Amino acid sequence: MLKTALEGTVTPDQINMIGGINYQRLMEQFGTKPIDDALISQIERITKKPAHPFLTRGIFFSHRDLDILLNEIEEGKKFYLYTGIGPSSQTLHLGHLIPFMFTAYLQQAFDVPVVIQVTDDEKFLKKDLTLEEISNMAIDNIKDILACGFDGEKTFIFTNSSFIQQLYPPALSIAKLVTNNQVKGIFGIGGSDNIGQTMFPAIQAAPAFGQTFIPNILPPEYREARCLIPCGIDQDPYFRMTRDVAPRLGLPKPVLIHGKFLPSLQGIEKKASSSEPSSAIFTTDSPDIMEKKITRAFSGGRSRKEHQLMGADLSVDVPYHYLTVFLHDQAVFDSTTTNYGKGILFSGDIKALTMQVVGKVLVHHAEQKNLTDHQISQVMKIRRLA
Ligand code: TRP
Repeated sequence: MLKTALEGTVTPDQINMIGGINYQRLMEQFGTKPIDDALISQIERITKKPAHPFLTRGIFFSHRDLDILLNEIEEGKKFYLYTGIGPSSQTLHLGHLIPFMFTAYLQQAFDVPVVIQVTDDEKFLKKDLTLEEISNMAIDNIKDILACGFDGEKTFIFTNSSFIQQLYPPALSIAKLVTNNQVKGIFGIGGSDNIGQTMFPAIQAAPAFGQTFIPNILPPEYREARCLIPCGIDQDPYFRMTRDVAPRLGLPKPVLIHGKFLPSLQGIEKKASSSEPSSAIFTTDSPDIMEKKITRAFSGGRSRKEHQLMGADLSVDVPYHYLTVFLHDQAVFDSTTTNYGKGILFSGDIKALTMQVVGKVLVHHAEQKNLTDHQISQVMKIRRLA
């Protein structure tokens, strides 16, 4: 288990933020690097597009070897994107969507294939859910994911149980190089946990190597291609393990871009969670429910007088944080930031704007999510990605 001195613990399965997460500290502790202005400019240069607000506003803030990957891309080398989800609720909330929105942007900007792992096995082993329940959730989750704007021709989504025949050989090669002691050290898996959890990290690692998808999904030239993984920083332990075994397999280390968590509506010391419906806005929330949730969200708790005097405390204000993530009009965002910070705008104004912005996101999402069974089976079909 990875202890972060003051900030609580960040492991894939336990997120516990005391006084908001100190991402700077986490980066130092994990040994990752910040995504700085030079990297963002390089991305803009390569893609010939303005960088996504998630980059410029520090939502995706940390990386491993992104500098190396960008240089390789400039030399004309190929890469692909990999991300995933563990289905544990029927509908996703806005926090779940962030890595998928970002991955879809990267796919469009760089014009590359994407593979998406749905870890039905992981949630079966770790939660009190049946395989059937998980498989129903998986289908709905996949609709939510596709609504984030992936290119259907260049995207392959798979559940582990359906794709296991192809995942198993690389997972075995990985598993052979990782000891029980390492898995215990990295993930905190103990003597009384079931044995499936010990093997699972090798299954999550396998898609980080292009050869897993060769030849029927990716062409042979992807054998040496790098994999770029956008993910929440809590997933880093899996890929530290993966990067550790890569040289021993003679394969390139996957590259990571880490995102921050969307805070709970009740306050930034926790993250939005499916198990607490009031903490998050779900893609299926009605406008009415969404507005109620935002009305009740935590804004910092200053009195009107204090607010006029000192302005808003932007660092703890949850609706403002939502704007940082979802209000992409830079001019409106900047003036809102200035005027709220000065106390000219009030938390009521910010909440009203957040309702408008989130309302639009939800309407757009619902439109995009309107998919046929055929479209879904198409994206899950084993086929060569264009
Ligand atoms: N373990 C992740 C979860 O609990 C799911 C996942 C699998 C994933 N592969 C991934 C997440 C790659 C990010 C990147 O949701």
